[in-house]
Amino acid sequence: MAEQVYIFDTTLRDGEQVPGCKLNTKEKVGLALKLEALGVDIIEAGFPISSPGDFESVSEIAKLVKNATVCGLTRAVQKDIEVAGEALKHAKRSRIHTGIGTSDFHIKAKFNATREEIIERATQAVKWARNFTDDVEFFAEDAGRTDNEYLARVVEAVIAAGATVVNIPDTTGYCLPHQYGEKMAFLRNNVSNIDKAVLSCHCHNDLGLATANSIAGVIGGARQIECTINGLGERAGNTALEEVVMILKQHASLGFYTGVNAMMLNPISREVSDIMRMAVQPNKAIVGANAFSHSSGIHQDGFLKSAETYEIINPEAVGADGSKIVLTARSGRSALAYRFQKLGFQFDRNDIDILYPSFLQVADTKKEVMEEDLQALATAHTAALVH
Ligand code: KIV
Ligand code: ZN
Repeated sequence: MAEQVYIFDTTLRDGEQVPGCKLNTKEKVGLALKLEALGVDIIEAGFPISSPGDFESVSEIAKLVKNATVCGLTRAVQKDIEVAGEALKHAKRSRIHTGIGTSDFHIKAKFNATREEIIERATQAVKWARNFTDDVEFFAEDAGRTDNEYLARVVEAVIAAGATVVNIPDTTGYCLPHQYGEKMAFLRNNVSNIDKAVLSCHCHNDLGLATANSIAGVIGGARQIECTINGLGERAGNTALEEVVMILKQHASLGFYTGVNAMMLNPISREVSDIMRMAVQPNKAIVGANAFSHSSGIHQDGFLKSAETYEIINPEAVGADGSKIVLTARSGRSALAYRFQKLGFQFDRNDIDILYPSFLQVADTKKEVMEEDLQALATAHTAALVH
């Protein structure tokens, strides 16, 4: 029996922290409704105490979203938690996400505290948050660099205090996948009350490992992934929602599923890119402009014989426009014939042999041979045949 992995979307919080990605309340509400339609389980709508604007956004989203849980971030500070409770009070399902740094880097440099003091502040915050909602998530910031024995003590204490979800952030994107997976497994095996909470992955992409780490975390025992559309987030970004959703879908043998409607992945990626004015890199998995483009002769020939030779995902299944055969100086005769055919020219093998050197001449002068170039080549070829 496959198990559900909950998708916690933080595009509106960690994603919106990216310089230049700030959204106003109307934009945030619009996006939250789209995330709900996408099928995410939890929407982290913002950090209510951070600004009046963010408070208003969280509050409006809480009023309108009905199917997903609406979550607000806080520090382990009483006032933050009260403000989040107020912002979330109209939510059908609300969650307070509170926490504190647990690595020695954070304990010493940020808080000038001891490990025991941090546990005390963490449990107080969770208990306080439980006055506002039954759904309290605790984050152990920089858990990626927190030693596992101490982390297990923190997790056990916050669950005893009432946390229902425990987030294990790799805040600095430092962990290797096997380390992050082992961290989750260690917590599953060494925290006596772990069955009372869901473990959550929250990975950053500083070494390009956010997606791999999140999947390793799930294999290690986590059942929630925190992620953003297009992988937006602090510095190098967060785990990309579209990637983890499709990995769990394509590798069904792992035994997991999510509630996300994959057909909406490309449309929502474009909307987030437009609204946040953040272009998606063309080679981005699942949602990049080249994710389903084939440009080299060997690949094009194989793809035209059978799409499965070079595509593991059907583009329509993720709402992309379809596969593309792009013509460049690396393209071969099959691709050229295919593109002529698409333009309505039925050239036989002999025609293509004659046309191919002229095509390469054009291709060597341009990055991509476009329809108008093909039209010109076809017209010249047809005229030469007539004379
Ligand atoms: O990366 C991180 O540690 C965070 C926490 C606030 C959850 O974003
Ligand atoms: Zn983060």
